[in-house]
Amino acid sequence: MYDRLIRIAFIGAGDIAFLHGAAIGRLPGMELAGLWSPDGNLNREKSELFGCSVYDSIDALVDDPAIDVIFVLTPMESHHHYAMMAMDAGKHVLVEKPVAVTIAELEDLRDTAKSRGVAIMPGHNYIHEDSLRRTKIMIDDGRLGDIAQVYIMFNIDHPEEVACRYPGVIRQLMIHHLYILLYLVGKPVSLSAMKSIFSYETHTEDDLAMVTMRLANGGLAHIGASFANDDHSSDAWSFFVKVMGTKGSTRFSYNDWVENAKAVVHSHTYSAYHFHIENEVRFFIDECVRKGTPPPSTIDDAITCLRIVEAIEDAIDRRCEVDLEI
Ligand SMILES: NC(=O)c1ccc[n+]([C@@H]2O[C@H](COP(=O)([O-])OP(=O)(O)OC[C@H]3O[C@@H](n4cnc5c(N)ncnc54)[C@H](O)[C@@H]3O)[C@@H](O)[C@H]2O)c1
Repeated sequence: MYDRLIRIAFIGAGDIAFLHGAAIGRLPGMELAGLWSPDGNLNREKSELFGCSVYDSIDALVDDPAIDVIFVLTPMESHHHYAMMAMDAGKHVLVEKPVAVTIAELEDLRDTAKSRGVAIMPGHNYIHEDSLRRTKIMIDDGRLGDIAQVYIMFNIDHPEEVACRYPGVIRQLMIHHLYILLYLVGKPVSLSAMKSIFSYETHTEDDLAMVTMRLANGGLAHIGASFANDDHSSDAWSFFVKVMGTKGSTRFSYNDWVENAKAVVHSHTYSAYHFHIENEVRFFIDECVRKGTPPPSTIDDAITCLRIVEAIEDAIDRRCEVDLEI
């Protein structure tokens, strides 16, 4: 079925490497050949788990002529550096979200991919979720009518020692909400926002944020992100997307597919997450790398998301809140 095996290497061997490695192991036509990160313990753990080699250095990984594709699975601040190294060596790149720190870095990545003739795809995993793809088809076909409301909520407790490896929830989590929103209903036209540092002892980034947006058609969207609490009530909002139109509505919920086993930081295994990461990896290798198909969410979408994030940060800085003295 495949004319040749696509060989992948990981830069980064942490939590998200676990999901990508497991996905590659389940998919035909590709293999995880090796990995590198500065953490020898993580390298050993993941290489034993996935049966791949560990490179001696980042240069050895990037310069390996047997590698076709590099996944950049390191903290956000280092994505631009490693993705540029990979593309300069002629490799295709899947880069985790948030793709980069600044718009200039994102433009550089997009332009370099074009000039080198390689594919680069943001790790915008939720648009590869089967039920959200179905929602998108129904919206595009007009089967939901005019979209009046969109809600996207994330509530999964992350201990402070995990959260401090990431930026706050606006940059770390709301990127997911924003590329989902763009994919389903397009760019918002205005927003208001609040954030809180609610549960941390010393970490100074936000662990709670809510944003309300006006859509181009006059509809409203509300997104919420929390590292401060789980939701184990009935019909929980662990990761939840509801779209309501004048002719119909849909929802996606992590809690529709739950295995009673802890999954890294998550208290339960939310199986949809694992399935759509597999869809994402399959799409990148089989469509983008093998056939040159553009991804359904691009670096230009990452640029739009980051512009919205900057507007959220601006709204919060300007504190567009009315103090209630009642
Ligand atoms: N798509 C998703 O749902 C999702 C979920 C979790 C994390 N992520 C993203 O994946 C990336 C990694 O997150 P994680 O949870 O795996 O983090 P992690 O802390 O578990 O692992 C990070 C890995 O990068 C390495 N590393 C750290 N600093 C580095 C540097 N300066 N240069 C090279 N390597 C470095 C570490 O040694 C480790 O191997 C982040 O960008 C994060 O936002 C995405």
